[in-house]
Amino acid sequence: MSATVIPMAPGETLLGHGHQFQHDRLPFFRRVAGTGDLVSARMLHRTLYFVNTPAVAHEMLVEKARCFEKSPGIRILLHDLAGQGLFTSEGELWRRQRRLLSPLFHPTQLQTYVGAMNGEALRARERMQDGARVDLASEMTRIAMSVVGRALFDARTFDEADELGEALTVALGWVNDRLATPYMAIQIAALEMTENLDGKLPAWLEDVRARVRAALDAPILMPGRHDPDVKRALDVLDKRIQGMIDDRRANPEDRNDLLTRLLYARDADLGGEGMSDKQVRDEANTLFIAGHETTATALAWSFYLLSRDPAARAKVQAEADAFGPDGPTSYDPEKLAYTTRVFKEALRLYPPVVVLPRRAIEPVVLGGHSFADRTIFFVNVYGMHLRPDCHADPDRFDPDRFTPENEAKRPKSSWLPFGVGPRVCIGNHFAMMEGPVVLATLMRGLSFDVDPRDVEPETFATLRPKGGVWARVRRRDA
Ligand code: HEM
Repeated sequence: MSATVIPMAPGETLLGHGHQFQHDRLPFFRRVAGTGDLVSARMLHRTLYFVNTPAVAHEMLVEKARCFEKSPGIRILLHDLAGQGLFTSEGELWRRQRRLLSPLFHPTQLQTYVGAMNGEALRARERMQDGARVDLASEMTRIAMSVVGRALFDARTFDEADELGEALTVALGWVNDRLATPYMAIQIAALEMTENLDGKLPAWLEDVRARVRAALDAPILMPGRHDPDVKRALDVLDKRIQGMIDDRRANPEDRNDLLTRLLYARDADLGGEGMSDKQVRDEANTLFIAGHETTATALAWSFYLLSRDPAARAKVQAEADAFGPDGPTSYDPEKLAYTTRVFKEALRLYPPVVVLPRRAIEPVVLGGHSFADRTIFFVNVYGMHLRPDCHADPDRFDPDRFTPENEAKRPKSSWLPFGVGPRVCIGNHFAMMEGPVVLATLMRGLSFDVDPRDVEPETFATLRPKGGVWARVRRRDA
């Protein structure tokens, strides 16, 4: 066991690091990464740990993945929206669902979706008039949401996907507004209190404890859960997706979208059993949520970074111009090699998911230190991406870090925008295809004069460009 002491994050106050966590998050994460490989921080009464090096991140997320679950916060917040979907489920249910869903996201399946990626970028190209001023961040959200909507629900139901998109935006707004609030901390504290009482109460009280514990899986202590707008949005999502499920059950051969494939996915280990409608709805919502904002912010940052590097922009432009007028209508990684490096570098400098939260489900040794059951950890993706021993000259935008030769030289798990290990993002290949295809399709037909102001990142559910990325559109055929 290590004899070294885990350093405390700088700037501790009587109340711990809560203020920095809420109001100075990104600089704080970076300072923490510079403080040590494992660093502790305090939130009110509770000590939690940041994992800041690739080696310990790998140990945690790959080698000892079975000793951890996701931290309960996001599961509670997404309870009404994504229930027991892949992002939030744990244990046997998660393992079974991951087995069922993985084939749908295998790289060989993904060519099916290039049409949606290219098609939605073309629709956006039509929308953007010569000389118009647009917020590329909002445009990218529209594109990415339509792409995942089409992949999930088929092009023919596009209007439905649009309506679902609106409902999803309202419901997600509610989730966003409650992340990292005191309500969240109170709800987790209450949940853990009921967990700590497990096995310590007389039998007649145990039943009450178990029921309260189960109730606390839903965001019952968060305000606004029953607001009419939120309820309506959840209702639209539920009813619309159920309607589509009924339609596909009645006409199974009709479509080739993800929803149909979810409905007909069978688990060989369970005698060919499929999912319940409720599970399919949870998975559909999960994919809709997880599959758009992340990709959209990475695309917005790609445009921003390219606007500040004319040489890199010219190389992306040259790749885009090698395609026909509609851009890439099928996916050939060779033809998008440089554009892909740009997208990867944007994911390094501005990883949409800045930390990966985990909670130990048993006592565990990590980085040579022992930790108790229920210890909370954050893999500090943002901080690690900016550590000079992981990425030399880390603030510099340099897509060539991602040439195959340079990638081979980097420490394993030093680039973690999608996580790593069994819970790695299931849509990572989808996103790595969508980003370059959308960039090339847009740049084949349009150029963008991005406002020359500095854009700050802000942490919401993802790392968004604060105030958007505003640009003047030029049609290249105008
Ligand atoms: C640039 C785009 C994306 C980024 C940066 C991203 C990032 C992530 C991260 C960091 C995780 C969690 C890993 C962890 O906690 O260990 C995750 C999980 C997940 N992502 Fe993505 N994601 C992206 C795109 C997508 C897309 C396009 C889809 C689906 C169409 C998707 C679906 C999911 C799902 C279902 C999970 C949960 C997987 C599981 O726990 O088994 N993501 N993603």
